[in-house]
Amino acid sequence: MKGVILAGGLGTRLFPLTKITNKHLLPVYDQPMIYYPIRTLVNAGIDDIMIVTGGRKSGDFLSLLGNGKDFGLKHLNYTYQEGEGGIAEALGLCAHWAQGDSVAVVLGDNLIERNIIDPVAAFREQGQGAKILLKEVHDPQRFGVARLEGDKVIEIIEKPKVPPSNLAVIGIYMYDDRVWNIIEDLEPSDRGELEITDVNNWYIKDGTMTYGVLDGWWTDAGTFESLFSASKLVAEGGANHVD
Ligand code: DAU
Repeated sequence: MKGVILAGGLGTRLFPLTKITNKHLLPVYDQPMIYYPIRTLVNAGIDDIMIVTGGRKSGDFLSLLGNGKDFGLKHLNYTYQEGEGGIAEALGLCAHWAQGDSVAVVLGDNLIERNIIDPVAAFREQGQGAKILLKEVHDPQRFGVARLEGDKVIEIIEKPKVPPSNLAVIGIYMYDDRVWNIIEDLEPSDRGELEITDVNNWYIKDGTMTYGVLDGWWTDAGTFESLFSASKLVAEGGANHVD
């Protein structure tokens, strides 16, 4: 299984912090934001990783991360997203590299307390389809939100005004190799982006989407409030625990 970290976009919700640099290079407590999603993948045994960068100061990723030695890696792959065409567009840039393999995707501003060792193992076992991870939140309007019927996810709604549950779809996704064709067929949403939620709804309709509920805390770090609370959570107990 290959790993992809999406660290493109312009980070406008963090302006002016992102006026001259990329959001994922900002500090979360004592480390650059991008370190956390890299650890999320490496801790789950995924060591063939592509980083999608873009926007301001994308060259700085290479200076900061090099070949990934600090994470025990021998090599890191990089690619560049022009503009801000959406999470699914950014993922689609990895098609040439990952085709034929399954993929675990982590959004570059998503941090977790623990690890994804069990869900990755479950997805390997599952063999095909996709897997998402859900987490109960107090502000579901900010996220993709799962609508459940019994214990089945029947739909994901992106940033709903009236959320059907308080279960957010966190920014960690696993897909089989059909994902590349699905992305190719996507149409931009009303906000002009290729939406990862449309990819997830495709797998739900196909009947091959499974989900897990994440253990431990999860946060994004893309707004002032969540960046601050991410730093606090890391300062208080650390992130990416494996035991
Ligand atoms: O954090 C989880 C949420 O992330 C999910 O619940 C939502 O369903 C999903 O759409 C996403 O929502 P956000 O509005 O928070 O996504 P945002 O635009 O902040 O992008 C998250 C990361 O994805 C960002 O840190 C970098 C990457 N990205 C985003 C865009 C729009 C790219 O690499 N390229 C892009 O064009």
